[in-house]
Amino acid sequence: MKIERDSLKRMTIGVLCGGLSREREVSLRTGEGVHQALVDGGYRAVLIDAGRDLPRQLADNSVDVAFIALHGRFGEDGTVQGLLEMLGVPYTGSGVLASALAIDKVATKKMLLYHELPTPGFLVLRRGEERTAVLEQCRHFPLVVKPSREGSTLGISIVRGAEELEEALDEALGLDDTVLIEDCIEGMEVTVSILDGEALPIIQIVPKGGFYDYHAKYTAGQTRYIVPAPLPAAVYRRLQEVSVETCRVLGVRGAARVDFMVREKEFYILEVNTIPGMTPTSLLPKAARQAGIDYRELVVRMLLDAGLDK
Ligand SMILES: Nc1ncnc2c1ncn2[C@@H]1O[C@H](COP(=O)(O)OP(=O)(O)O)[C@@H](O)[C@H]1O
Ligand SMILES: [Mg+2]
Repeated sequence: MKIERDSLKRMTIGVLCGGLSREREVSLRTGEGVHQALVDGGYRAVLIDAGRDLPRQLADNSVDVAFIALHGRFGEDGTVQGLLEMLGVPYTGSGVLASALAIDKVATKKMLLYHELPTPGFLVLRRGEERTAVLEQCRHFPLVVKPSREGSTLGISIVRGAEELEEALDEALGLDDTVLIEDCIEGMEVTVSILDGEALPIIQIVPKGGFYDYHAKYTAGQTRYIVPAPLPAAVYRRLQEVSVETCRVLGVRGAARVDFMVREKEFYILEVNTIPGMTPTSLLPKAARQAGIDYRELVVRMLLDAGLDK
């Protein structure tokens, strides 16, 4: 804990949301939730739409500490973190390097492999590269095609046969210059939330339509959440340990979420979210609640851990 509870009451908290990414709408909902919880708790909080004039807004509002409620580029990717480092404003969540690593699924997977942490097999294709050699290696379907640096399932396709591959690649390459073609793991989807280096209860995600896409993520009633996830005790414990270890090797700070696919006793890390959503349907607040931490306490805990890179 870097900030004392008493001093937080005297600080001006800037809730940074909105911003410039494709996940702007989700971020606005996260920001509003966080801002409201702080105001209701008697904290001095200002809601800031983090556009290009962010430095001026931080100065005009005399912000002492930033709660980053941004998702995607210019928020979750280390850029805003870098700006806050320069301005000397402590902020919630991961620092510059961990943020930049975690938003990049290809870079994350390479780190996971180096540390012998399980992740689905994959190929990488960059915009403008010859596709033939890569396509020839895609023999076992289904596969998942995704942009390296997006979130909210944007640009992700489940590809069931060779004839669907080109279109999926075009779609993903429309959002990022680097895409992954990943082995599709058909099994149970779960997510492990981490708070201050400790794993919270695991949530199983059961989307009604079978695929946890944008609609399933943000529309109430479209997905069933089971917490704690019904896994054998040994697998449950192992997933929590691996999540903590994953965050440690990536240098992730504060709250985070590690997404997994589980197939029998095997599990695979899909990605690490360094700024988990905090909307009414979001997973981190659900996991926290199960652990006896209400929404406002979660927000406050995240702020007490705010800091600058050492
Ligand atoms: N390799 C995979 N096997 C099975 N399902 C996958 C795979 N990769 C992604 N998915 C599905 O797509 C969703 C989004 O993928 P994810 O890698 O977590 O990216 P995002 O950053 O968009 O959340 C997952 O929640 C899961 O439902
Ligand atoms: Mg995800």
